[in-house]
Amino acid sequence: HKDLLDISQLSRDELLHIFNTAQYFREINERPVKKVPTLKGKSVVLFFAEPSTRTKTSFDVAGKRLSADTFSLSKSMSSLQKGESLRDTALTLQAMNPDAIVLRHSVSGAAKFLADRLDCGVLNAGDGRHAHPTQALLDGYTLWEQWAGEFAGKTILILGDIAHSRVARSNLIMFNLLGCKVRFCGPRTLLPPGVDQWPVEVYSDLSRAVQDADAVMCLRLQLERQQDGLLPDLREYSRMYCLTPQHMEAAKPGAPVLHPGPMNRGLEISSVLADAPQSVVLDQVASGVAVRMAMLFLILTRKEA
Ligand code: CP
Repeated sequence: HKDLLDISQLSRDELLHIFNTAQYFREINERPVKKVPTLKGKSVVLFFAEPSTRTKTSFDVAGKRLSADTFSLSKSMSSLQKGESLRDTALTLQAMNPDAIVLRHSVSGAAKFLADRLDCGVLNAGDGRHAHPTQALLDGYTLWEQWAGEFAGKTILILGDIAHSRVARSNLIMFNLLGCKVRFCGPRTLLPPGVDQWPVEVYSDLSRAVQDADAVMCLRLQLERQQDGLLPDLREYSRMYCLTPQHMEAAKPGAPVLHPGPMNRGLEISSVLADAPQSVVLDQVASGVAVRMAMLFLILTRKEA
């Protein structure tokens, strides 16, 4: 593939190949000297038109560990602020001949819009509510490690603000492809319209949803995307949907707890659970570097058809 736009473009075999490639880079990340010359001479632009800590930093670290040159552009420091369009901004960046652009943008479809117009690779680092493929890949890789590669028959609960979540959408596609059963749980107002037609079991009652789950992923309540009037009463929300160690007693013993970050502690996940041994939140961050190294490597060294 020239681009990574969403999980739906990948086959099951390609997912497993990405996890195996990430495993190779994960081992390199644990060496005293972490830099390898694999992408020497390649350049990658990190174009983030929305805030990010994990995705932007880990793409930057990933590129640098592979010896690619990385360049950052943010919305507030770019001429988007002066009204330049996304298309003109992208064509300007491409004129500098990078090998790939990593894009985060608030509009669903923004990454595809660029990919259709640019010759260089485009990696989607999150577009609106649509997709966050590298987040799904790092979540999948984290559980691939936890479960020694055995996904078939596992049940994964994704909990919280599903309506606004690109992470939930990309993870649903990926875990279904890997043979898992996926559950969504949240208040009806934070479940997407038409969700009953999606390949997922839908719950509103957290204590039922968590029953015998093999893993639970909490989502951030996206307070900045609630202009649509869906924002619940926060005290009521945390009373009904904040995941606690007591809820996890109904899940499979030791079931990992994931959160893509940033976490609203005490709102969607209790602080005690976030720091508990079964929380793999920081493993997800470490996986993120390895998975993004894998994706930069696979996209930038692909053979043209
Ligand atoms: N999980 C995630 O995308 O985090 P950032 O917004 O910090 O990149």
